Amino acid sequence: MSNTHFVSGASGQLGRAVVELLLASGAKVIAGSRSPEKLMDLKAAGAELRRIDFTDLESVKSALSGVDRALFVSTDAVGQRQGPQIQALQAAAQVGVKHLVYTSLVSADSPEMAISEEHRATEIAIQEAFSSYTLLRNNLYAELLFGAVSQAVSSGQLVTARGKGKVAWVSRQDCARAAAAALEDGFEGRRTLDIAGPHSLTGEETAAILQSVSGQPVQHLAVPAEALKAGMLSAGLPPMMAEILSAFDVSASKGLLDKSAGDLEALTGKGGRTLQELLEANRSAWAL
Ligand SMILES: NC(=O)c1ccc[n+]([C@@H]2O[C@H](COP(=O)([O-])OP(=O)(O)OC[C@H]3O[C@@H](n4cnc5c(N)ncnc54)[C@H](OP(=O)(O)O)[C@@H]3O)[C@@H](O)[C@H]2O)c1
Repeated sequence: MSNTHFVSGASGQLGRAVVELLLASGAKVIAGSRSPEKLMDLKAAGAELRRIDFTDLESVKSALSGVDRALFVSTDAVGQRQGPQIQALQAAAQVGVKHLVYTSLVSADSPEMAISEEHRATEIAIQEAFSSYTLLRNNLYAELLFGAVSQAVSSGQLVTARGKGKVAWVSRQDCARAAAAALEDGFEGRRTLDIAGPHSLTGEETAAILQSVSGQPVQHLAVPAEALKAGMLSAGLPPMMAEILSAFDVSASKGLLDKSAGDLEALTGKGGRTLQELLEANRSAWAL
């Protein structure tokens, strides 16, 4: 079954996009999910469906039976995913998966990177369990900015705690292209890749882009992380999201999100979408 690619988390936004890209390129795909019943459209498009839940090792073993190359999408259970992800990847190695692709986080090897601990532990476990793997260190999804863009365009101020730090915002679709390519290219060996957008941007440069796409004046306002978090909470963001987003800004202020697009270009044969292109194509997500 060497030409069949397995994708976990196929009902999530990234996993689904990877499955769709693989189907479009004519690959044989097994779409894995805790809820395969949600994926009947992918089945109709040619994917085989299998149930996989990282917290249920029997499901992991049977889902991966006969699979050579698999993508594990990191789960959204922040704070509770490390153990299940590691047990699942160890089970994957036991049942014979040859190459594991994992969606990690930018600068996951740095303890100073926000919410990196579970990704770091998962990366180390992959390095121990597999002699062939691809670690995709995805930069921040540019889509995470949409809420802040609405706020910035209406107030004229893009408020961040990034100081002069840069972020190489990358679209989710470009992360999906990277994951699909890492499954399809047949690479054997160990590689760790930065998946980053084409431009690494300061807050000021981001504000200039917002001004350009919105036609409204937008300036960058640098504030301390606590002030940013308080503002997000008062704007109604859930506490965990406010905590994570302000912690990302602190990491950015230390230069941990300032990466180049070279790995994405080399892996997929082309660079990602610019922030400007993404905002223009998704005006309804942020325009007032
Ligand atoms: N780089 C960034 O800026 C950024 C931002 C947000 C999130 N992320 C990370 O990237 C991942 C993919 O992003 P997304 O936008 O696709 O997130 P999403 O739409 O929220 O999807 C969450 C994913 O977690 C999977 N999942 C949850 N519990 C699981 C379990 N017990 N076993 C196996 N899979 C489980 C879900 O799969 P099923 O429901 O199909 O089983 C689903 O694919 C997220 O889960 C998160 O780890 C990165």
